[in-house]
Amino acid sequence: MTQTTLLYNIGQLLTMDQQEGPVHGKAMNELDVKENYAVFIKDGKIEAIAPNDELADVKADEKIDCQGKLVTPGLVEPHTHLVFGGSREHEMALKQQGVPYLDILKQGGGILSTVRATRKATEEELYEKAMFHLNRMATYGITTVEAKSGYGMNHETELKQLRVAKKAGENHPLDLVSTFLGAHAITEEYKDDPDALLDDMAAMFNQIKDENLAEFVDIFTETGVFTVEQSRRYLQKAKDHGFDLKIHADEIDPLGGTQLAVELGAKTGDHLAVATDEGIKQLAGSDTIGVLLPGTIFYLGKGEFARARKMLEEGAAIAISTDFNPGSSVTENIQLIMSLAALKMKMTPEEIWHAVTVNAAHAINRGDVAGQIKKGRQADVVIWDAPNYMYIPYHYGVNHVNTVIKSGQKLYK
Ligand code: NIG
Ligand code: FE
Repeated sequence: MTQTTLLYNIGQLLTMDQQEGPVHGKAMNELDVKENYAVFIKDGKIEAIAPNDELADVKADEKIDCQGKLVTPGLVEPHTHLVFGGSREHEMALKQQGVPYLDILKQGGGILSTVRATRKATEEELYEKAMFHLNRMATYGITTVEAKSGYGMNHETELKQLRVAKKAGENHPLDLVSTFLGAHAITEEYKDDPDALLDDMAAMFNQIKDENLAEFVDIFTETGVFTVEQSRRYLQKAKDHGFDLKIHADEIDPLGGTQLAVELGAKTGDHLAVATDEGIKQLAGSDTIGVLLPGTIFYLGKGEFARARKMLEEGAAIAISTDFNPGSSVTENIQLIMSLAALKMKMTPEEIWHAVTVNAAHAINRGDVAGQIKKGRQADVVIWDAPNYMYIPYHYGVNHVNTVIKSGQKLYK
């Protein structure tokens, strides 16, 4: 049975479909805003986009009067640590006393505390928790999500996390894209031999491929975690196994993870908060997308946000994301991150909308299905309680979503 929905009286419509590939540099500041438009959805797909006058009288099973509101593509979240056990509110006091993130980790807390909780949790518990967070993400207008493993760092728990993400992707209306982050920290078992930990994680590549449990392999390249050389060797192996690559790069110390991402042709370099001039230059001249995570810098209490302006001036393609995780960025609210991108990284509203739609979709290899409102695509659409696109980063900290439509179905209202 055909099902049709008409969204009419759209005040501003962002289709984000000006070009095919990721949008780089200055082009990110050019936004095509359609006014007084309507969108017709048929069987979960976009069927027509036209001025309101041309579509308003079309017959539809459901007609939604958008009352002059803003309508955009569903948002794409390209960097989350969705599946984890426990929580780390007890570390907040340490943070307030000024204990650095990497020191908490060195003392066996931080990521390692979540590793212990995730190892203990059953698959069912992790699944319920992941579904809860996905539901909350949906309420903020997110319709596609990347999810990393990385709180197991042994075969059993990494596989448990990846299977949970796969099952959540199958059962939840949101689309999920999975990343294997077995190389996320150095566990007690391997504290004297991190190379052996990497070998142990790499020994899972075949199985992860065979069971289709992840598309990307990621690593935390950081002081006290993995060096650039270790990361290069590990990621090259992942690439040889047919994985696309991501790197937690230059988050706290400028080790050169940004350059490594470019060298290896990684899909994304993530964080880049302390990327050097050379790193930024190389990023700008490459196809690697910079995924910036200002919520993490804010939450870790650091002053230095990624130099988005320089990256954009030099021509890089930028996406932004929550980095949702239990330690360094505990929020599902991508709209708050849009405000931080404006306030702390001085990104324009036009750049920010590219960063949460089309570029975020390309950052997780979903550029051809998500991030744009385009004839023939799945209808992932958000109606906002906002008069224009600039309003969302401006009015910060709250949820502006009116209605979320995922593949033509009303998900949240
Ligand atoms: O992106 N930097 C490493 N990984 C995460 C934090 C994970 C955690 O603290 O649990 C991040 O910031
Ligand atoms: Fe992260």
